[in-house]
Amino acid sequence: MKRDFLSILDLDKEELFYILDIAKRLKKNESFESVLKNRFFALVFEKPSLRTRVSFEAGIRRLGGNCLYLAPGDIKMGARESVKDIAKNLERWTDGIIARVFSHKSLEILAENSKVPVINALSDLEHPCQILADLQTVYEYSQSYEGPLAFVGDGNNVCHSLILAFALTGGKIRAATPKGYELLKEVVDRAFEIARKTGADIKITNDPYEAVKDAKFIYTDVWASMGQENETEERKKIFKDYQVNMDLIRKAPEGVYFMHCLPAHRGEEVTDDVLDSDFSIIYDQAENRMWAQMGLLYLLYR
Ligand code: CP
Ligand code: NVA
Repeated sequence: MKRDFLSILDLDKEELFYILDIAKRLKKNESFESVLKNRFFALVFEKPSLRTRVSFEAGIRRLGGNCLYLAPGDIKMGARESVKDIAKNLERWTDGIIARVFSHKSLEILAENSKVPVINALSDLEHPCQILADLQTVYEYSQSYEGPLAFVGDGNNVCHSLILAFALTGGKIRAATPKGYELLKEVVDRAFEIARKTGADIKITNDPYEAVKDAKFIYTDVWASMGQENETEERKKIFKDYQVNMDLIRKAPEGVYFMHCLPAHRGEEVTDDVLDSDFSIIYDQAENRMWAQMGLLYLLYR
């Protein structure tokens, strides 16, 4: 049966740790069989990308496969033809569809209508590939998945996947968002439901100081995500007290690390002195996108 990866919750805990183990070993140069030999992927992107596109292309080739990038505008998903028809065509030529979409629903339609796996390369609901790399990075800097990790900013796709991932691993996660920009209730409810089994410690608040007070990692993301550009000015006002700057860093315990999925809007959600500090681990996160996604592909195609 084909496996899709639309949500971090499409993995169970053992599979998640398996991926992270493979990722770690690949990064240490351990050689693995070319599981993607003779396999071909379509990268279908409705929004721009640096990290996701390049890390997938590099990772697929390292595992012996090949891929084609379809930029926003190339196939005009849902406009030039239906998402269903796109899936029905792509499944005939490819071994997998890696898609970045505006609406998570488009991923579900792709998955329902293709015999090949569909991988979420970011939707409005989740960014699970990002969080695989983040967990790998958290482990590298703390030799555990415990955290605590404090996400400060918009209750968006990245924040959703983070809280679900920490719920699954049983770690400690905090999220501080402005009122009206909280995580979706169904995501929070699901995270707490999982936490009851795994023992994860989840705190949701509107107070950034409260969120970071026991943090080992502070994480932020842009205030206006791709597709929300017309809200940028309004959001700058609403989110101003959620900026990760040295004042907020000093409220966290000594030795806290700074994380960001990137791209960063310097001077908005985070200041240059934090981004460029020696406690910033943003480029390790970016590098780990490739290793972690290779781990994911290894699980799906071994
Ligand atoms: N973090 C991330 O997904 O970056 P890109 O938008 O550049 O792919
Ligand atoms: N929340 C951001 C993440 C970018 C990687 C967005 O959706 O644009």
